[in-house]
Amino acid sequence: MIKIGNIEIADFPILLAPMEDVTDPPFRYVCKMFGADVMYTEFISSEGLIRDADKSVKKLDFDEFERPIGIQIFGHDINSMIKAAQYAERAKPDIIDINYGCPVKKVVAKGAGSGILNDIPKMVKMTEAVVKAVETPVTIKTRLGYDDDHRDIVDIAERVQDVGIKAITIHGRTRTQRPRIPADWTLIGEVKNNPRMHIPVFGN
Ligand SMILES: Cc1cc2nc3c(=O)[nH]c(=O)nc-3n(C[C@H](O)[C@H](O)[C@H](O)COP(=O)(O)O)c2cc1C
Repeated sequence: MIKIGNIEIADFPILLAPMEDVTDPPFRYVCKMFGADVMYTEFISSEGLIRDADKSVKKLDFDEFERPIGIQIFGHDINSMIKAAQYAERAKPDIIDINYGCPVKKVVAKGAGSGILNDIPKMVKMTEAVVKAVETPVTIKTRLGYDDDHRDIVDIAERVQDVGIKAITIHGRTRTQRPRIPADWTLIGEVKNNPRMHIPVFGN
């Protein structure tokens, strides 16, 4: 058994990756029936959530049978992320996941999603702030680095582990790599085999 915080999951678990407009409750129902061990909501804007935007609040909905389930949030402002995590926590998810992987231009331009890979100290600070703001285990999902010159994930993984995340999911591409090129699993392997790492590392 591996553990995310106190949540025990299978030795080789299959996680349903968060996908906007895809991983809604009906889709998750089907994935649960087919054996998903852990599932995530679609990403939810912290700015939308703290302003009670219908679209964001609706994405917090889940059913008991979906557990263990993570709510994924994203944003660029540390205070908004703290408030959004506390808001999400009231829905009683098993996990709160931070999206540091979204490559979409309008998200990255603000420094959210994978945009934060341009500012690792801020990424670590935001992660620590969210971890401290909630009791729910916090996980992150990110990429190998911002671009080919900054494949920093081995260092990043250590630093976010040190501030208290309970698991990390790594998408084997950088922000600037096109989605159709094959994912690079070697660096994911390096993170996994790093003796400093003691939290679960999920390859994506
Ligand atoms: C339609 C779609 C929506 C996505 N939305 C999210 C999201 O909300 N949060 C997130 O972390 N990743 C999101 N992703 C990325 C996936 O979780 C996953 O990392 C990615 O699809 C893996 O790459 P692959 O599709 O080449 O296997 C999305 C991907 C797709 C295709």
